[in-house]
Amino acid sequence: MVALITGGARGIGKAIALRLAKDGFDIAVNDLNEAAFEGSDVLEACENFGVKVGKFYANVANSSECEALVKAVAATFGGLDVLVNNAGITRDGLMARMSDEQYDSVIAVNQKSVFNLTKFAGNLMGRAKKGRIINVSSVAGLYGNPGQMNYSASKAAIIGMTKTAAKELGRRGITVNAIAPGFISTPMTDKLTEEQKASMLSQIAMRRYGTPEEVASVVSFLASADASYVTGQVVEISGGLSM
Ligand code: NAI
Repeated sequence: MVALITGGARGIGKAIALRLAKDGFDIAVNDLNEAAFEGSDVLEACENFGVKVGKFYANVANSSECEALVKAVAATFGGLDVLVNNAGITRDGLMARMSDEQYDSVIAVNQKSVFNLTKFAGNLMGRAKKGRIINVSSVAGLYGNPGQMNYSASKAAIIGMTKTAAKELGRRGITVNAIAPGFISTPMTDKLTEEQKASMLSQIAMRRYGTPEEVASVVSFLASADASYVTGQVVEISGGLSM
């Protein structure tokens, strides 16, 4: 069984790669380029679980690079069983001052990537009549977040895309689900100001941030045989951020 994790060099993607390696999946780690893998031990750490591991460069915002990525993974491992659309960026700013470039770049990486890869991986999985696709949305897509018009748009879109893909691909034995993490400690969230962090914490029922491993364990479940009849769902992993 083979899992492809986009943006897997660090952060939540790396934790997902490690967890799925622990579960016994061969792991294809995608990230932008060699620079993204610099200082990352994701490949060695996955290999320690005794599975096959591959490194694949692609900009997931680019359709032809995604097509080539899926082909390369299938050629290397002989198939693709699990796709985790994890790669994502933020370019925060209040709407009034947000540039078109700021808006469009986030939509391209976070949202278009899900179309690109679900299309190509879905075709491949469809021929095998099985597969799991897990999309990383966010609580920003469910509830909105000031300063994240671009990001919340992309993450809300992912939820609609997850449900559409689940409906299109279900008859071919493929499940498609989304996860919506809340505030998880990673390099992405380290960029927030102390004031933003304190304000988030006061809204979380569990009064702590989540860890990438706590996100990865939900992905592990959705990729497992135990989740065989779960599709089109959004699982919030936020310590009770909004209830
Ligand atoms: P991160 O910034 O630590 O890691 C993202 C990875 O994606 C990096 O390795 C980066 O090089 C890669 N990447 C960026 N653009 C790419 C592209 N065009 N093609 C291929 N790879 C690309 O981010 P983090 O925090 O690990 O986030 C992972 C996912 O989880 C993202 O989709 C993010 O929106 C989502 N998320 C994160 C939350 C958090 O609190 N950290 C909360 C909710 C969702």
